[in-house]
Amino acid sequence: MSTQQLEQTYELAVYPRRDIVLVRGSGARLFDENGREYIDCAANVGVSNIGHGNQTVARAVHDQYLTLGNCYSMFYSPVRAHLAQKLASLAPGKLNRVFFCNSGAEANEAAIKFARSSTGRQEIIAAMRGFHGKTMGALAATWGPEYQKPFAPMLPGLKHVPYNNLAKLEAALGDNTAAVLLEVVQGEGGVRVGDKGYFQKVREMCDAHGILLIIDEVQTGFGRTGTLFACEQFVEPDMLCLAKSLAGGIPMGAVLCNDRIKVPVKSHTSTFGGNPTACAAALASIGVIEKEGLVEKSRTLGGYFLKELGRIESSKIREIRGLGLMLGIELKEKAGPYVQQLTDKGVIVLLAGATVIRLLPPLVITKEEIDTVVAAFKDILVD
Ligand SMILES: Cc1ncc(COP(=O)(O)O)c(C=O)c1O
Repeated sequence: MSTQQLEQTYELAVYPRRDIVLVRGSGARLFDENGREYIDCAANVGVSNIGHGNQTVARAVHDQYLTLGNCYSMFYSPVRAHLAQKLASLAPGKLNRVFFCNSGAEANEAAIKFARSSTGRQEIIAAMRGFHGKTMGALAATWGPEYQKPFAPMLPGLKHVPYNNLAKLEAALGDNTAAVLLEVVQGEGGVRVGDKGYFQKVREMCDAHGILLIIDEVQTGFGRTGTLFACEQFVEPDMLCLAKSLAGGIPMGAVLCNDRIKVPVKSHTSTFGGNPTACAAALASIGVIEKEGLVEKSRTLGGYFLKELGRIESSKIREIRGLGLMLGIELKEKAGPYVQQLTDKGVIVLLAGATVIRLLPPLVITKEEIDTVVAAFKDILVD
């Protein structure tokens, strides 16, 4: 049987598939089983910020696995200790403690629990079009009846308000509100960049009412938006949720917390959370981001990409927006067929809702590769 047939036969059909078998990656390039080359503008939905096949991370994983691959957190581990210290040193403001887990949903799941345990309150306010993962707690915070309906009833106490709308948020806050959970740039929701003024006011409102602010940077973290963490451009949270590119492509999640966060011993743990192999990968990956100046690259190349896309004259485009190397091209019609046309031209992109094409290239993408991508967009969009 072919790879496609094997996966279709033996896996649950929960992913909408594209008919490509990917076998190799290098930098911002992907290769399929027939040797066809693609420019990657998806980065595994924001996982591969440092690019594919990075030697430094590969060596760190290899070496750590042979030294001590796993070490449950009931024991101390030097590599975990160093990563915790490194994250605390990089995190904005007073986010100086970390809880390690394995994915974005788990990070949000933990943050919801920590908000309840720290405040003694139950309600969490999230945003319409927000995406926080698909485990039961995270799913209740994720917007979208299509995701929630098959799994009802949802965790009680989660409410949704329109994004970027202060009055609606204020009206939703109450004595039982534990936390507000938001993305500073909504990724799955269509690459929607929040207003700095909105986030500053949200911070003030949270402080005035003893409410915690959780920022979900699972997709925007580690240089994606032109700063190491996107929230640096908006607001300082009480908890910062991370995953995706944290460990250079090895599964890992984390919640960075300030000293308002209180969690009883043993109340929230994870077997693989903070395992030394993932910690070594994260330290190596952060080292690559620093050494190769990828945050700066994201800012400058992102600006260039946005400008070049903006020069395309097409009646099909409604808006082009983004921050750093997180870009959205909103069309006046369904974007699905254009995603396929781009694939045919050797460019892999993402959807974000029905009408938005989302670009999350590895931050190691070159200017020449961006020019090729822009030319492909011109070919398919110019009237
Ligand atoms: C902002 C955000 N939060 C949470 C998640 C869920 O992460 P995971 O798929 O690792 O559970 C995602 C995934 O796309 C995301 O973009």
